[in-house]
Amino acid sequence: MAATIPGVGLSCSTKLSQIISLSSSSRSSRCSVKMTVSVEEKKKSFSLKKSEEAFKVAQELMPGGVNSPVRAFKSVGGQPIIFDAVKGSHMWDIDGNEYIDYVGSWGPAIIGHADDEVLAALAETMKKGTSFGAPCLLENVLAEMVISAVPSIEMVRFVNSGTEACMGVLRLARAFTRRQKIIKFEGCYHGHADPFLVKAGSGVATLGLPDSPGVPKGAAFDTLTAPYNDILAVKDLFETHKGEIAAIILEPVVGNSGFITPNPDFLNGIREITKENDALLIFDEVMTGFRLAYGGAQEYFGMTPDLTTLGKIIGGGLPVGAYGGRRDIMEMVAPAGPMYQAGTLSGNPLAMTAGIHTLKRLKEPGTYEYLDKITGELVQGIVDAGKKAGHAICGGHIRGMFGYFFTEGPVFCFDDAKKSDTAKFARFYRGMLEEGVYFAPSQFEAGFTSLAHSSEDIQQTIAAAERVLKQI
Ligand SMILES: Cc1ncc(COP(=O)(O)O)c(C=O)c1O
Repeated sequence: MAATIPGVGLSCSTKLSQIISLSSSSRSSRCSVKMTVSVEEKKKSFSLKKSEEAFKVAQELMPGGVNSPVRAFKSVGGQPIIFDAVKGSHMWDIDGNEYIDYVGSWGPAIIGHADDEVLAALAETMKKGTSFGAPCLLENVLAEMVISAVPSIEMVRFVNSGTEACMGVLRLARAFTRRQKIIKFEGCYHGHADPFLVKAGSGVATLGLPDSPGVPKGAAFDTLTAPYNDILAVKDLFETHKGEIAAIILEPVVGNSGFITPNPDFLNGIREITKENDALLIFDEVMTGFRLAYGGAQEYFGMTPDLTTLGKIIGGGLPVGAYGGRRDIMEMVAPAGPMYQAGTLSGNPLAMTAGIHTLKRLKEPGTYEYLDKITGELVQGIVDAGKKAGHAICGGHIRGMFGYFFTEGPVFCFDDAKKSDTAKFARFYRGMLEEGVYFAPSQFEAGFTSLAHSSEDIQQTIAAAERVLKQI
C-alpha cells in the first residue's frame, strides 16, 4: 500500500518510481556520452534536487532516512546524497552528478567498484543459486586464502558482518580464558554489539551520543577503556584487575576516530602485557585486513595477535565478516567445541565468490605499492594545499588507507582528533562535493583509495582541494 508523504502530496510509490525512472535515464546518457565538462560548468550544474526529494521520502520510511547513522551527513550539514551507480573509482548520484569516491563503500571496494571480473564470477555463481544454508566448496577456497594470508589465522569462521565477527570473537575470548573483562580503546569501533558501545568512535561521536541508550549496564560493565597509544593506562588496568582481563581488542591502525597510527612501543607493549597476564590479543582488522598489506596490519607491523576479526574486503562488496586465530582457541567454536555461534547466511556462495576474486586481484604483484604511491600523493597534496591556504592541518596514510585532520597535530588518540576544527571540515566537505569529490562525511572517519583510482583522479582531487581550501 502506498503511504502518503506529508507536505509532498504524492504517494511514496509514485514519488519513488518517478525518481528511479529519472535517475536511470540520466545515468545511461551520462555513461554513454563521455563529455569533457569544465570545473565551472560542473559546479553550475551541481544540483541535489532528486536526492533531496528521495531523502524526504526515506525519512518517512526509515529512522533518519538511512540504514546506518554516519551516512546521514549530520556532522557536515545538508543531507545524504542518494546514489544510483558505482564503477571503478567513481560514483553517480540520482541527479546525475559524478564523484571521485574515497569511501569505497567504507572499505570493501579496494579493487574498484563493480569490477568486471568480480561481476562475471558472481553471475556464474548465481546460476547455481544464491544461498545453500549448507557447506559449499567456495568456503574452503576463501578460508584457505585467508589462512595463508593472515599470520595469526590458523582456522576461520565466516559470518555476515564485522559486528558479528567482533561479537563472536569476544564470546570466544571470554570462553577460552574463562574471564569476563576486556580492554578496548577510546575511539575504536568494533561494531554495534552492546559490550563495544563504550567510547566507540566515529558513528557515535559524529552524532554526539556519549553511549547508546538501550545498552544494559551489565553488558558494558566488563568493558574497560584506555586512550589509544597509552601503554601506561593499559598497565594500570591490568594492575587493578589482576587475573580478570580476558583480552585486549583494538584497531591496529585506527580508522574510526579518523586515521591514527599506533606507536611501535604501544603495539609491542600490549603484546607483551597480554602474554604476561595470560590474556588474549585481538586485532580488529575489519578495516585494515587486506588493506594495509595482503596479510593486514599484522603483516605490516610484523606482529601476531591471538585472534583477528575481518570483514569488508574479504566479501568484495557483499555482506561478510570473519574471525579466526590460533587453532587451540578456534577449536572451542561450535560444533568443534562448546562456544555457540551460528548464522543462516554465513559462508554464502555469492559473498565467498566476491571475496575470492577480490583477494586474487590483490595478490598480484605491485598492488600495495600502487596504493601506497597514489594515497601518499593524495594526502601530501591535500595537506600542502591546506598549509598553503593558512589552515592548521595534518594527515597521514598507510597503503590504501588515509586521513587528515583540521588541527596542527600530531594526533595519537581520539582526544587529539577531537581538537580538529569540525566546522571547517564541514565547509571543506561541502566544497569538495560540489567539485565532484566524495569523502567520508565525518572528520572522524578514515578514507580509502583503490586500485581503480588513477593518477588523474588524484591530481583532480588535489586541484579541487586547492580551490576549496582557499575559499573556506
Ligand atoms: C574496525 C571495525 N570493526 C568492526 C566494524 C563493524 O563492521 P560492520 O559494519 O560490517 O558490522 C567496523 C565497521 O566499520 C570497523 O571499522
